[in-house]
Amino acid sequence: ATILTVAGLGLAACSTPVVKHENTQPLDFAGQKYVDKTMQVGGQTIRYRAFENIVYVNNPVDAAHETINIYIPEAYFNGGSINGYTAQTAPIFLPNPIGGYMPAKAGVPGQGGFGPHKAGQIDAMQAALARGYVVASPGARGRTAATGKAPAAIIDLKAAVRYLRFNDAVMAGDAEKIISNGTSAGGALSVLLGATGNQADYEPYMQQLGAAPAKDHIFAVSAYCPISILDHADAAYEWQFNGVNNYQKMDASMLDYHAERKLVSGTLTKAQIQVSGRLKARFPAYVNSLNLRDPQGRRLRLNAQGNGSFKNYVASFLRQSAQGQLDAGKDLSDRNWLTLRNGKVRAVNFAAYARATGRQKTPPAFDALDLSSGENQLFGTATIDKQHFTAFSYQHRTDPQATLADPHTVQLMNPMPFIGPHTPPQHWRIRVGTADSDTSLAIAAILAAKLQNSGKRVDFALPWDVPHSGDYDLDELFDWIDQAVK
Ligand code: DHB
Repeated sequence: ATILTVAGLGLAACSTPVVKHENTQPLDFAGQKYVDKTMQVGGQTIRYRAFENIVYVNNPVDAAHETINIYIPEAYFNGGSINGYTAQTAPIFLPNPIGGYMPAKAGVPGQGGFGPHKAGQIDAMQAALARGYVVASPGARGRTAATGKAPAAIIDLKAAVRYLRFNDAVMAGDAEKIISNGTSAGGALSVLLGATGNQADYEPYMQQLGAAPAKDHIFAVSAYCPISILDHADAAYEWQFNGVNNYQKMDASMLDYHAERKLVSGTLTKAQIQVSGRLKARFPAYVNSLNLRDPQGRRLRLNAQGNGSFKNYVASFLRQSAQGQLDAGKDLSDRNWLTLRNGKVRAVNFAAYARATGRQKTPPAFDALDLSSGENQLFGTATIDKQHFTAFSYQHRTDPQATLADPHTVQLMNPMPFIGPHTPPQHWRIRVGTADSDTSLAIAAILAAKLQNSGKRVDFALPWDVPHSGDYDLDELFDWIDQAVK
């Protein structure tokens, strides 16, 4: 081929663009400083290089949080292979450490805190390195900062993906094999990151931030207990918990799943019980509008009372989880919401399940009438700390001065409108513990059905008695990723 060198004309004349990578080029990974590290996993010593505190955008708004930590097994600098992967083929595990929609610093292997981290156990980042993954953990802006309101966190995560894709040629790991992972708010953002790959709606924000010129779709999504579909989560919560009038509530500052939770018990007031009923009544119309089907192709619907095939669908995952326990020889005779016969789960009483799990939020669970929720702060603006984000709560607001978030911003935080046959990630793994009442089980069930109906491979389950947490099944998680990649 003839190579035309046309000074000042950029790439226009060349069939093969020549991308130069120099240390001086912004957002270039080549030449980044690193520190050698080692860790012990199962008696083995794993060596890796730590490239930390890399700002992943050209115009950071919050440089303390818009950074990424990248960890690469030492073997990949010596032509070695781990778990069948090489520097060219290793997947990139992308765990975001976001909790509570709070600002998050880039994650560090061994710092734990993303699950029930016990002494002597390795965390997800360590497990990934031991399995031969490249690990890249991005920080992101969060709701307590004026600059961290929605959609800041998802913009940041997308920019981090662009950084990795932009540097694919000069960095170990395959940027076509990025697997996102997160828990709770971080789980919701992991889902959103997958759902919104390359979506034009986010482009103006990416430009403003000076994100690397690259695509931002990813290969696979892992999400634990995603606090997602926030604009319909109030109705979903009351669909599940209406009639449960006692609660164990946590302070909005406690939302972050990393933090130890202090619960305050109470009983719903008459007014709250009325709000619960009204919200519950709104849920069937939402579910029915989605036209979801189960894997057998049967419609998932709810009647005006909130009963129907969608409810049976949600209950079917509880049933599967319980059956797994029975098959493993566990005695579940103390669970009054299950009907058991001859070692089989015969029926699930969803209302009794909700009573047994317990209500943890007062209605409306997310868009609080007095703006007291973490999500109210998420939907604030640079100048207004907290706002409503649903028409219902705005109408019933206790503060006449309170304002409503702009609908476009609300939509940018909801993955549902973006999920379809052309949504890039083919592989999705969603887990919510049966003891989790931070949001309705309906939320994850809706995501799973929508993804499945869009032709994605979806692995959705409700692990038995697991509370609001993540990263508690690392062997299964990485087996699933290996299977998707290989
Ligand atoms: C988280 C938990 C919540 O209950 C919530 O509403 C938002 C976020 C969390 O643990 O990240």
